[in-house]
This record gives sequence, structure tokens and C-alpha cells, in this order.
Amino acid sequence: MYILLIFSFFITLITFNNINIVNCWPENSYVPFFIADKLYYVGNNETFYIDLVDVSLDNNTIVYAPKWFNINVSESNIDYPSNPFLGGKANDKIFFIDDPDSEGAQSHVLLDAFNTTLKKWERNISCQGTPNYFINSDYINWVSDEQAGKSYIYRYVDDDENLTIFDSINLVWKNSTSNPQNLLQSILGSSQIFARYHNFVQVLSACDKIFYIGGTISVNSGSSYNSNSQFMPMSSILAYNIMLDSWLINNATGKEIEGRTGHTAVMTSDKRIIVYGGMNILRSAFPYLAVLDTSKIPYEWSTPTEENPIGPITEHSSIIIKNYMITAFGRNLSERDSEKYDIKNVYKLNISNPLSYKWSLLATPNNQSNS
Ligand SMILES: *[C@@H]1O[C@H](CO)[C@@H](O)[C@H](O)[C@H]1NC(C)=O
Ligand SMILES: *[C@@H]1O[C@H](CO)[C@@H](O)[C@H](O)[C@H]1NC(C)=O
Ligand SMILES: *[C@@H]1O[C@H](CO)[C@@H](O)[C@H](O)[C@H]1NC(C)=O
Ligand SMILES: *[C@@H]1O[C@H](CO)[C@@H](O)[C@H](O)[C@H]1NC(C)=O
Ligand SMILES: *[C@@H]1O[C@H](CO)[C@@H](O)[C@H](O)[C@H]1NC(C)=O
Ligand SMILES: *[C@@H]1O[C@H](CO)[C@@H](O)[C@H](O)[C@H]1NC(C)=O
Ligand SMILES: *[C@@H]1O[C@H](CO)[C@@H](O)[C@H](O)[C@H]1NC(C)=O
Ligand SMILES: *[C@@H]1O[C@H](CO)[C@@H](O)[C@H](O)[C@H]1NC(C)=O
Ligand SMILES: *[C@@H]1O[C@H](CO)[C@@H](O)[C@H](O)[C@H]1NC(C)=O
Ligand SMILES: *[C@@H]1O[C@H](CO)[C@@H](O)[C@H](O)[C@H]1NC(C)=O
Ligand SMILES: *[C@@H]1O[C@H](CO)[C@@H](O)[C@H](O)[C@H]1NC(C)=O
Repeated sequence: MYILLIFSFFITLITFNNINIVNCWPENSYVPFFIADKLYYVGNNETFYIDLVDVSLDNNTIVYAPKWFNINVSESNIDYPSNPFLGGKANDKIFFIDDPDSEGAQSHVLLDAFNTTLKKWERNISCQGTPNYFINSDYINWVSDEQAGKSYIYRYVDDDENLTIFDSINLVWKNSTSNPQNLLQSILGSSQIFARYHNFVQVLSACDKIFYIGGTISVNSGSSYNSNSQFMPMSSILAYNIMLDSWLINNATGKEIEGRTGHTAVMTSDKRIIVYGGMNILRSAFPYLAVLDTSKIPYEWSTPTEENPIGPITEHSSIIIKNYMITAFGRNLSERDSEKYDIKNVYKLNISNPLSYKWSLLATPNNQSNS
């Protein structure tokens, strides 16, 4: 089991009705954080920030290389940081969980952090309680409720896994007491099987709900990670109620949206979930841009117009800053050999008008003179 899990860290092999696809661990993927007007990107092999102090998103200023700053991770004395999430009293800390790489580590998950205000690393932070055995083979994003100082992640690694909660103010781990197994079984149409849910995106809504967007559900076939998979239908939106510690599937009406992996999903202040990009088996998922209005019941999908589109991308990152979705990195699926085409730029999508969304370049690592 361990060997399989660790193997799946590098290669996720999913069978879609006899089509085998190999999903490599995304090399060019970054987790974004917006802290004190700086846009941090934590990647697999590099961590840096783009300084947006004095940059107004409302005009079309482009941020060039002199405002990109590397964070020297080798100074930290920790293994390359992974599984980052935001927390701390002032929401100025990026926490990291060391992936346990030996059986010994299972009983003691190590927590490290980078205080962005002090630009200081902290190693092996002591906490109350322990989380579930931690291996984030799907690269599931954490969500953080900045007001309550709590972070959440749900992954199915083992049969009895529930949602994991970390209180980053009091440094306490907690397990939720529920999981959506019966709801996932109802989507697969059988209560006799163990359903696994992978490659979704977590979206926090108004500090009281977490939505689960896209991804795949599969039948556990014994000890093997290989199994029959299907896309989570985009008309079924799984949600976790933080206050009630309970799960629900909401129905979504409106435009038909293809299931996907490798996409991003973010929440606007007026409860629109903006979904962008991703793959549907071997090709880009359609439409590239989809919007779910969660402000009314039933939820409704729409496919608004895109001005100045950037085209199909996958394994990118997205974060909301004011009236913009900031999207960066990942792979460009318009290129013939997209495996080779890492996106280097940071784009912004103007989301102020719910009917029409406009892309523009926000930042590029090239210098002004040579662009
Ligand atoms: C990180 O990986 C990317 C892609 O493989 C490479 O271009 C970049 O130079 C690497 N950065 C560091 C700091 O090793
Ligand atoms: C954009 O905003 C910056 C900072 O507020 C300002 O210095 C600059 O003049 C503005 N540019 C335009 C074209 O309005
Ligand atoms: C974003 O859209 C709003 C509403 O359409 C508009 O007022 C604003 O100027 C746009 N921002 C930019 C940077 O174009
Ligand atoms: C960009 O400019 C900065 C200083 O302005 C310099 O340190 C850096 O080497 C330049 N990079 C490139 C790719 O020209
Ligand atoms: C990063 O930190 C290490 C250890 O302190 C040091 O040896 C190295 O020169 C630093 N690298 C950069 C690019 O500052
Ligand atoms: C990070 O350092 C600053 C400056 O000392 C401090 O105010 C802040 O509370 C620290 N953050 C955390 C989460 O400890
Ligand atoms: C981390 O701290 C715990 C006690 O809090 C200790 O048992 C463990 O050995 C430490 N691990 C490392 C790698 O420093
Ligand atoms: C959470 O659950 C795991 C096993 O599923 C257990 O090892 C861990 O101690 C639990 N943590 C807390 C804080 O209850
Ligand atoms: C996890 O959730 C299941 C299903 O809701 C529940 O039966 C179980 O007791 C929970 N486990 C823990 C450790 O709370
Ligand atoms: C969603 O639709 C199904 C089938 O029409 C129905 O059984 C279920 O109750 C609906 N769920 C909600 C939360 O309304
Ligand atoms: C992807 O590549 C196409 C074709 O070269 C280009 O037009 C588009 O701007 C690129 N998109 C991104 C996000 O890099």
C-alpha cells in the first residue's frame, strides 16, 4: 500500500473506460498566496514573490523582473517545502507539511512555516494532536478561513479518512467527524463499493462552506490505485458545511460543463465560483471558462464571454485579488507539444462584470527592455 501511494505521488494512473492516461506530477505548478500586497508562489523547486505594493490592478501596469524576488529555501534547512497553506495570527505565515517518506514519519507529521513579515523560517513546530497520515498525491489545495485562523483539507487516502482541520492560531490538529462516502456512493450508484474522490479543487465560501469542484470519482478495487474512474459530474456539487460538520450534494442547473482535472476554481465576493482550464482525459475541458452562481438555489452554471482569451491551460494556479482572478503558470494546451510549454506569465481576469470577463497580462519575468 505504501509503495503504491508513494508511487502514485509521481505517477497517477487512471483508467477511463479502457483508456489509460498518465498524469505526471506537475513540474511547473505553483500554489499562490496574497499576503501584504505581495503575491507569493510556492513551487516544487522554487519559491518567490511578486511585489504588488504600489501596483494598482485597476490600471494596466505590467510588473517586470525587478519586482520578482526569490526566497532562498536552502537557508531554511528544511526539505523542500510542500503542501503549503496560509495561517497564523496575522495571516502572514505559510505553513508546510513534510511528506512522510518513511514509516517512522507517519506517527509524527512535521510542520514548518515561513513568517513572511519577518522573512524567517520555523522548523518542526510543535502542535497539539496529530493529523491523518499525510500524503497529498493529488496536489489538493488547502483552503484557509483567515478570520477564524483555520485551514481545511479533504483527501481520501485511506478508508477511514475524514476532513483534516488545522487551527493555526492555537496550533491544534483536529479531524472532522464526517465524510461524504455515502454521497459519493450514490453518484456511482452503489452502496456496496468504496468510492474515492480525486483531483478536485476546494473552494471556501463565506467561511461556512467548502465546495468541491470537478475531479474524478472511482471505485476502490482492492489494494490497487488503478480502478474505473469517472469525472465528477459538474451538475453535482459536493459541499462541506463547516458549522454543522456535514456534507451535502447540491444540484446545479444551467449550461452543461465538462468534468475536469487540472483546473482551478475561486470564489468571488458575490458568490460566483469561477472555474478555468483543466483537462478532460487527453484534451482540454470545455468550456475553458465556466461560472457557477451559488448565490441562489439551485446553483446555476453559465459560460460568459471572454475578451482577449489566453486559451486552454492546465495545472495552473488561480487566486482572487479584489475584482480580479490572477492566473499563472501551468501548461499551455494550445501548443502542439504542451508538455514542453510551461507558462511563465501571470495574467489577470477582470471579473467585475458577471456577463463578460477580460484577460490581460499582469506580470512577466522578462525585463521591460526585452519584452
Ligand atoms: C525549477 O524547475 C523549472 C522547470 O523544470 C526550471 O526551469 C527552473 O530552473 C527550476 N528552478 C530551480 C531554482 O531549480
Ligand atoms: C497605474 O497606477 C500606478 C500606481 O497607482 C500609477 O503610478 C500609474 O500612473 C497608473 N498608470 C496609469 C496608466 O494610469
Ligand atoms: C474591469 O471591469 C470594470 C467593469 O467593466 C471596469 O470598470 C474596469 O475599468 C476594468 N478594469 C480594467 C483594468 O480594465
Ligand atoms: C532584469 O533586470 C534586473 C535588474 O533590473 C537584473 O538583475 C536581471 O538580471 C535582468 N534579467 C534579465 C533576464 O535580463
Ligand atoms: C541561499 O542560502 C544558502 C545557505 O545560507 C547560501 O549558501 C546560498 O548562497 C544562498 N543562495 C542565494 C542565491 O542567496
Ligand atoms: C511574524 O512576525 C511578525 C513580526 O514579528 C509578528 O508580528 C507576527 O505575529 C509573526 N507571525 C506569526 C504567525 O507568528
Ligand atoms: C520534531 O519535534 C518532535 C518533538 O516536538 C521531536 O520528537 C522530533 O524528533 C523532531 N523532529 C525533527 C526532525 O527535528
Ligand atoms: C485523526 O485521525 C487519525 C487517523 O485517522 C489519527 O491518527 C489522529 O490521531 C487523529 N487526530 C486527532 C487530532 O484526533
Ligand atoms: C469519520 O466519518 C465517518 C462517517 O461520517 C464517521 O462514522 C466516523 O466516526 C468519522 N471518524 C472520526 C475519527 O470522527
Ligand atoms: C438533486 O436532484 C436529485 C435528482 O433529481 C434529487 O433526488 C435530490 O434531492 C436533489 N438534491 C438537492 C440537494 O436538492
Ligand atoms: C498559449 O499559446 C498560444 C499559441 O502560441 C498563445 O496564443 C497563448 O497566448 C498562450 N497562452 C498562454 C496562457 O500562455
